[in-house]
Amino acid sequence: MKIGIDKIGFYAPHIYVDMEKLAEARDIEPAKFTVGIGQSQMAVAPITQDSVTLAANAALEIIDDEDREKIDFVIFGSESGIDHSKSGAVYVHQLLGLQPQARAVEVKQACYGATAGIQMAKGHIALNPESKVLVLGSDIARYGLNTAGESTQGAGAVAMIISANPRIMELENHNVYLTNDIMDFWRPIYSDKAFVDGKFSNEQYILFFNKVWEAFKSKSGLNLSDMEAICYHLPYTKMGLKALRTVIDEAPEEVRERLLENYQISTQYNRNVGNIYTGSLYLSLLSLLENKEDLKEGVRIGMFSYGSGAVGEFFTGVLQPNYREHLHIESHQRIFDTRKEVTIEEYEAIFEETLPRDGADIELNIEQDPASIVLSGTVDNKRQYVNKN
Ligand code: CAA
Repeated sequence: MKIGIDKIGFYAPHIYVDMEKLAEARDIEPAKFTVGIGQSQMAVAPITQDSVTLAANAALEIIDDEDREKIDFVIFGSESGIDHSKSGAVYVHQLLGLQPQARAVEVKQACYGATAGIQMAKGHIALNPESKVLVLGSDIARYGLNTAGESTQGAGAVAMIISANPRIMELENHNVYLTNDIMDFWRPIYSDKAFVDGKFSNEQYILFFNKVWEAFKSKSGLNLSDMEAICYHLPYTKMGLKALRTVIDEAPEEVRERLLENYQISTQYNRNVGNIYTGSLYLSLLSLLENKEDLKEGVRIGMFSYGSGAVGEFFTGVLQPNYREHLHIESHQRIFDTRKEVTIEEYEAIFEETLPRDGADIELNIEQDPASIVLSGTVDNKRQYVNKN
């Protein structure tokens, strides 16, 4: 039985910052951000969007009534959770109107959470071939104003339906995964911003990639020539390229050219959204599928997932017949076309705006946010969500 990605959707907030202007404001050469880091625009989350609303908005566009009846497992991958106890999945389950006989849980391991969700979903479908699993990767990346990590922030979510006989991508079973307890990036529970050892995190990302790639080759008997493209977890678009360059010389020239060209296409969306942590790898996959018009069905795509702390995984998928018909290219294009640029001053004010830390009730202005699903405020320490449609 084939198991894999049946549908894939994406959502990013309606406002963004131009990276050249951010560089100028920070007295940094703009090429450092646009070339050295490889980011052009950075999505900014207004206070009316959190990891729950981003995920629900991403899922809303892909879900139909049949999915509402068949989804019996919601897995919410995030490292921007809104509650230490209740999972974001339960809120999303309600906001989407899914049938009640479902499991709903949150999975955390930095940017690896959605990958863990997908692998759990595969097991669930193997046991329950008639059901469907909704896997979400939703995050708001925050390092702080004027920090080295600032240029690698972002916000957004990817939603995927995992099922038998998937219409987009069959997930193969040569997975190789690796865990090692390191402190390259973390966020203690008292902090709303991440702590990071930037250079160390870059080194570990590459080390993990090299280790899982070597093990993958031995386990699967496959090599670079068998990959049409490799999609990477992208904290910023230069990161995956650095990893790819460490192995690219293994391949003949024509394969090298193909992988490098497809790498660029797979980073287009991420370049204009920024890091969305758990969703980043899947945003890169979406970027490749939606922006490379002649990507043939039947080809194999490699995927490298990395969650600091750290867990890494390399796995592959095969594109299914007519997969392109099941993409939501126009609605994703609309997200980019209708976004509004904010000034650096506006971005800084939005960044500093947080819900009251003393638990006081608050009513937010939801009119300024065009998203369907928004956070409208808090009452008695409970977040209030609204579906405007
Ligand atoms: N023109 C062109 N390029 C320039 C330039 C210019 N004028 N000035 C600098 N550059 C280049 C540098 O040469 C460098 O390129 P290489 O890495 O290829 O050498 C690049 O721009 C970045 O410069 P620095 O290394 O000096 O940048 P930095 O130290 O200020 O910060 C960072 C970079 C460490 C990634 C920082 O943004 C950061 O800490 N980000 C958060 C952590 C992160 O994203 N880590 C990634 C791996 S961990 C992970 O993947 C999990 C996750 O999601 C967080």
